[in-house]
Amino acid sequence: MTSIFKSSRSKDLTRTQIAQWMHDCRASTLALFDDMNYETFCCQPHSDFSPVGWHLGHTAYTEALWLLERSAGNRPLFPEYHRLFAQDGMPKGDRVKLPPLAEVCDYLDAVRTNVLDYLKIAPIEQQERLWRWLLQHESQHCETITLILELQKTTTKQESVGFLDRTSILNMVCIPAGSFEQGNESLDALDNERPVHQVDLETYWIDRTPVTCKAYRSFIQSNGYQNSQWWSSEGWQWLQANPVVQPLYWREDPTYANHPVCGVNYYEAEAYAQFVGKRLPTESEWEKAASWNPIAHARSLYSWGNQFPDATRCNHNHEWGTTTPVDRYPSNPVGCYDLLGNVWEWTSTWFDGYSKFESYPYPGYSQTYFDDQHRVLKGGSWATRPWAIRSAFRNWYHPHMRQMLAGFRCVSDAKV
Ligand code: AVJ
Ligand code: FE
Repeated sequence: MTSIFKSSRSKDLTRTQIAQWMHDCRASTLALFDDMNYETFCCQPHSDFSPVGWHLGHTAYTEALWLLERSAGNRPLFPEYHRLFAQDGMPKGDRVKLPPLAEVCDYLDAVRTNVLDYLKIAPIEQQERLWRWLLQHESQHCETITLILELQKTTTKQESVGFLDRTSILNMVCIPAGSFEQGNESLDALDNERPVHQVDLETYWIDRTPVTCKAYRSFIQSNGYQNSQWWSSEGWQWLQANPVVQPLYWREDPTYANHPVCGVNYYEAEAYAQFVGKRLPTESEWEKAASWNPIAHARSLYSWGNQFPDATRCNHNHEWGTTTPVDRYPSNPVGCYDLLGNVWEWTSTWFDGYSKFESYPYPGYSQTYFDDQHRVLKGGSWATRPWAIRSAFRNWYHPHMRQMLAGFRCVSDAKV
């Protein structure tokens, strides 16, 4: 008797929690569209990205597909939106003619009403992973919406003034040799985070903070963008074809000096690391610094412990609407700052599945990108929702892409 009562009560709690999260997540998504005009809604500032309006419709489409069609077994509610909003529907370039915001919002509302009805009767104990996946799916599209809006704001006119300041070993911490557990097997774990596995690393040193604008300015001022010696051959080729002289979201304003550099691609990060005599971390090196306390021999989900992200922990969830100084939030047990939030951080690891990888909920989520063409980024940015922030979370992009809200930190091998 008691156990039946208890389990139906805990199912109700799960349903209530999920409904609340879905409500919060959606409210934060829609807030990005407040007073948005149709031009912005359909604007495609770069051919690699769909307009923000497409991402909005796609979140409803994905919810309807996985919950109403695949789980509840309903017929498509709005078959006319399939071609428009499916990931493999219309080519990106054709996505600029969208229904108006109000119509897309009606679509979102209609899907959501049905979804909430379904939530009341859904076999939640078998489906919790899928519902949590959808929250993270919307969270990630939300961040893409943000970066597209940032891209629209960028102007090419910039001039630079600066001073030389090389980062030093004092700004690094030593991570002692030994093994740790990489990955995540919680209910939120995405397919690419599983399974958790043991990784053994040599001693290395890692920057306490992401590379700041002040530090990166020294690279710019030393003609880093004009000097092939710092660049990999692929990176130099990219630079010749795309002659840029500073990061995409570069801010000359000195109030940003202690903020992380934002809007660099992998090649720029790699060149800067060469310039200061360091290298980019592997994903394992980054994740060990962010999840393993070598003194306590303890593993945690977040760099600060196991508490769900909130405004006191790191710069995420649009708390500031921009980057913050790299030491704005407390350091973690090994003395690193800003591992989670503020900017994504490039790693030198090619995105691939861990051994015994199994795709979920469809191969196109991760597996399609196991192609040695995408590098892993870690940590989340100021625009990442709390559901998509954790040390094991893996993002991936082509190394030439600089539109994401991404920076980096460097590492060095232990000097003998
Ligand atoms: C992990 C951010 C690269 O946006 O393409 C969204 C996430 N996958 N819908 C992306 C994703 C399917 C993905 N990234
Ligand atoms: Fe998607």
